[in-house]
Amino acid sequence: MMTQTIHILNGPNLNLLGKRQPEIYGRDTLDDVARDCAAVGAEFGLETRLLQSNWEGQIVDWIHEARETAAGIIINPAALTHTSVAVLDALNTFDGPVIEVHISQVHKREAFRHHSFVSHRADAVMAGFGIHGYALAMRHMGRLLR
Ligand code: DQA
Repeated sequence: MMTQTIHILNGPNLNLLGKRQPEIYGRDTLDDVARDCAAVGAEFGLETRLLQSNWEGQIVDWIHEARETAAGIIINPAALTHTSVAVLDALNTFDGPVIEVHISQVHKREAFRHHSFVSHRADAVMAGFGIHGYALAMRHMGRLLR
């Protein structure tokens, strides 16, 4: 059987994770996220592929690619969470599990962060667990795909 791959997609400004507003998002980087997710993936026999873009269309294209190559998607859409019907529509073309992750507890923050277009599709949502939320999402993904 071919190894299943989980795509871990990250939206705008998350390339600066660790440097950007560390009081909110912490000092760990996306490389740390990639390492944590790969470690959990290995426990479940899942490959991981972490991607980040500041461009909405690139995120949409990667979701389309995931239709062919991924068993599940973990996505931190960042600001696109609150603005992008295009990302939601793309996720609605994907058949596998989708888990939405936010490093910060968005519901404790500004009102404009309380609504998520992506939550209309997500099978589970993590918020406020710091970067640990990605690894927890991977663990849940492992259980869903078992
Ligand atoms: C975020 C929360 C969003 O509101 C924000 O725009 C981000 C990151 C988070 O991980 O907490 O860029 O998705």
